[in-house]
Amino acid sequence: MVKCYEGAEMKTVNNRIRIAIQKTGRLSEESFRLLAGCGIYVKPRKEQLFCHSDNFPLDLLLVRDDDIPNLVAEGTCDFGIVGTNLLQEKALQNSSDLESNNEIIRYLGFALCRLAIAVPKSFSYQNLSSLKKCRIATSYPAILSDYIKKNKLDIEITTLTGSVEIAPRLGIADGICDLVSTGGTLEANNLREVEVVFKSQAVLIKSPKPFSSEKQRTARLFQNRVEGSELANGSKYIMLHAPKSALSIIVSLLPGAERPTVLELQGDTKRIAIHALCRENIFWETMESLKKAGASSILVLPVEKMLT
Ligand code: PRP
Ligand code: ZN
Repeated sequence: MVKCYEGAEMKTVNNRIRIAIQKTGRLSEESFRLLAGCGIYVKPRKEQLFCHSDNFPLDLLLVRDDDIPNLVAEGTCDFGIVGTNLLQEKALQNSSDLESNNEIIRYLGFALCRLAIAVPKSFSYQNLSSLKKCRIATSYPAILSDYIKKNKLDIEITTLTGSVEIAPRLGIADGICDLVSTGGTLEANNLREVEVVFKSQAVLIKSPKPFSSEKQRTARLFQNRVEGSELANGSKYIMLHAPKSALSIIVSLLPGAERPTVLELQGDTKRIAIHALCRENIFWETMESLKKAGASSILVLPVEKMLT
């Protein structure tokens, strides 16, 4: 809260934004890492579901990922970090698109997983037609039904809200359609992944409800920090020595490089130092090509923060 004075009257202005993240699971660790990358520190105490950052006007609500799209759409939270799996399910249920309830601010590239059909290991699976007349249990009936329609399949959907992986053992389904990340849950339940239905990743979503101007300022600052931290994550700073004559070939080898800095080397008129910010990762293959082009003393450094 910021206190400000308007004439003689004191007004309390709420400039704090509220973000919903998954309490435990695929998304939670990386969501905290994203906030830390933005210089926002929040340390929830055990079993605390609502907590505050001391160094940024942001409050955190820790919930089940399934609840995040609605919390943000209704404006209970201003932002949320959630998988596209849940947004896609909702979108198909409402015959709308991915952004009809919440604005997607950024694809975050973590919590990569897939919604996949899996069957018991004893099931002799050849191709999709092996699933003819089967019952598939899922918490994603709209995505599965869309897949069934597109592939013209004859499959019955059994909708369950949780513990989908035990449905075949309980005899209520022949297979399942559920999220797979490491594959550990399938393995533990003697199931085998056979078809990928939808690929998902984490996104930062924003509420469609209007913000007060004070909150809008914090939201803009937050979004800029997320963007800066994401840009920095995907970037590297490279420093190397090279023959002057190889400058253009070296620069052409640097992925996503901006104009490099070229420096003279003390006591060497034939070689130069090149420094460049690359907007993409630099792999060993690139370093080997640089060396072949005559580069030496190649250093690749991580970029911690970036403001453009
Ligand atoms: C999903 C899914 C599985 C698990 C798969 O749950 O329902 O239980 O992840 O991950 P694995 O392949 O690494 O074992 P989610 O994270 O959505 O949690 P929730 O079902 O409690 O919401
Ligand atoms: Zn979930």
